Amino acid sequence: NSGLLNTDLYITKLIPNNYLQGSEVPFYVGNLDSVFEKHQKWQTLLPRVTPFYAVKCNNNLAVLRTLSALEQVLTVPRELEMVMSIGVTPDKIIYAHTTKPQSHIRYACAQGVDMMTFDNEEELLKITRGHPNAKLLLRIAVDDSKSQVKLSTKFGATLGTVGSLLKRAHELDLDVKGVSFHVGSLCTDSVAYRRAIEEVHHVFEQRIIGFQLDLLDIGGGFSGHELEMVLNSKATVWALDEFFPADSGVRVIAEPGRYFVDSAFTLALNVFAKKKVWSLPINGNGLDTMIMYYVTDGLYGAFGDIKLYPDIKPFVLRPHRSVESTEPRYQSVIWGPTCDSADRIMDVWMPELNIGDWILVDNFGAYTIPMSTDFNGFEKPTIYLVVTPQIWKMLNLKVSNLRFG
Ligand SMILES: Cc1ncc(COP(=O)(O)O)c(C=O)c1O
Repeated sequence: NSGLLNTDLYITKLIPNNYLQGSEVPFYVGNLDSVFEKHQKWQTLLPRVTPFYAVKCNNNLAVLRTLSALEQVLTVPRELEMVMSIGVTPDKIIYAHTTKPQSHIRYACAQGVDMMTFDNEEELLKITRGHPNAKLLLRIAVDDSKSQVKLSTKFGATLGTVGSLLKRAHELDLDVKGVSFHVGSLCTDSVAYRRAIEEVHHVFEQRIIGFQLDLLDIGGGFSGHELEMVLNSKATVWALDEFFPADSGVRVIAEPGRYFVDSAFTLALNVFAKKKVWSLPINGNGLDTMIMYYVTDGLYGAFGDIKLYPDIKPFVLRPHRSVESTEPRYQSVIWGPTCDSADRIMDVWMPELNIGDWILVDNFGAYTIPMSTDFNGFEKPTIYLVVTPQIWKMLNLKVSNLRFG
């Protein structure tokens, strides 16, 4: 059957199987049908905008193959080798980092990757030395105050410096093609896109001599959740129609990461240790039970970069695995596995779990897999990928791509 696969069904089979085999290793289930659906939705919501998937968000090879098979293309700082090894051609890659080591600029040049971003004069000098024929995007700093991850403090030229930077690029005989911005990751303010697009329009209007700017890169920040994505994309479409209408001759691209992969992955964590302690209740009378759970991945793994409260649900190994609504909830702490007390994932009220039960974390495909470290020697999660035969055939994915992360 076509359509979105049910990841839960797969997990429901996998966990008892792990239990029988005595495996406590955490694992992800990644749903490639979901990535495909996101691609289709993008075409409907932002038909004029070509997405360049941000590899750093989830660099799983099957995800990369799925997106490149869909003619999505990729934006990479140092992952060039990886994406080129799966056949992505240099014309489909943007080196979207405004501050690059000189050796990386030379490497990109040697690989034929021409498109890159900049936001300061020193960078222009390095590009002149390492890749004089590069095609450049000037990244501007925009309002990111309503985003969880603010990027404009670190990246982007202020509007006041744009004119002199473009003049300097012209003096250095560099080729600037257009302007880019990033409103920040997890952007909750759709007006931010409109304001940023208006600012780019202002830059284009300055008509700096020597450049024919015709490329607009609206960056990332798009949510994996449907409602937020609809709001952000509508605001973007309206702003594009107003400032860069279809007949303006300006090509529009984007650098979405989270949007494509967030909801495609669920992480399953094994409860391998448990401890009951006493805590003072909120009303101050007597003592309450607090339960500490120790699970197989934590802050040095998938939880290193979480920006939202994780979307968790207990998976209890009982004959009928449901948690009854009448079961008492206990104040609980979920700890990661390492010997570090900073490795505290979250505090939550939950029904009591037992050793051997699992905790599922939904919507966990963005900025999790590539952030995992080897700290303290704990095993990284295994990655299982699921896809319907139709999508597998359509994208010409190979079995080996579907097994390994
Ligand atoms: C240059 C660049 N492009 C794209 C992205 C992807 O952003 P998001 O995952 O919010 O779409 C990021 C994320 O920080 C980024 O730094």
